[in-house]
Amino acid sequence: RQGTVVAIDGPAGAGKSTVASHLAKRFGLLNLETGAMYRALALKALHSGTAVDDGDAVLLLTRSTHITLEPGDGGNRVLLDGLEVTSDLRNPEVTAAASRVSVHGPVREWMVAAQRALGLAAPSGVVMEGRDIGTVVFPQAPVKIFLDASVEARGDRRFAQQPAAAENKETLLREMRDRDSRDRSREQSPLKPADDAVILDTTGLSLDQVLERTEALVAARL
Ligand code: C5P
Repeated sequence: RQGTVVAIDGPAGAGKSTVASHLAKRFGLLNLETGAMYRALALKALHSGTAVDDGDAVLLLTRSTHITLEPGDGGNRVLLDGLEVTSDLRNPEVTAAASRVSVHGPVREWMVAAQRALGLAAPSGVVMEGRDIGTVVFPQAPVKIFLDASVEARGDRRFAQQPAAAENKETLLREMRDRDSRDRSREQSPLKPADDAVILDTTGLSLDQVLERTEALVAARL
């Protein structure tokens, strides 16, 4: 039988990765972070001098790129053309470039096809995390969770988690706002909750509360 899909979407810093990794362990599912694929492509674009805003150039690059996600400690190990790049994907340059390569429609189609294939190949099922999982990648997913939080709360959490990810909190907040508005306003598969997603605003919640609520949502639907 085909495995189940738990779709986790939402803006940056809403807690998607933490929730996805927890749910995957708890329910014995494979955790797939689709953002890491856009990040790996962005890294390759930066290294190869490909203009991230040039859709044709980025599509050409995508077609000659092989990205694999493997189970890692919490998050995924990411292989770019066979080489591990996991620790190179979180710096601010790659983060900003990822949100720019992901704007191009044909590049997204390619990525979505790869993500569907990865999801379908996992016998027990997946927790897949991203921006368009419940709307585009797996619109039939039996569990869809859209995690949200105020931009201040998301900025605080991100800064506490990875202080090295930005010069200071103001820069981090500004970059996060830019990235969110690009993700929400792009033409193809913009960031938005699926009609049948459960929206969870985590602004005033502790991590334990978020994990407890999301676990209950999955348990009720599997
Ligand atoms: O989730 P993460 O922050 O790693 O994603 C990096 C960027 O990749 C996002 O800002 C977004 O532009 C893009 N992305 C996307 N669709 C996904 C996952 C990520 O457009 N499913």
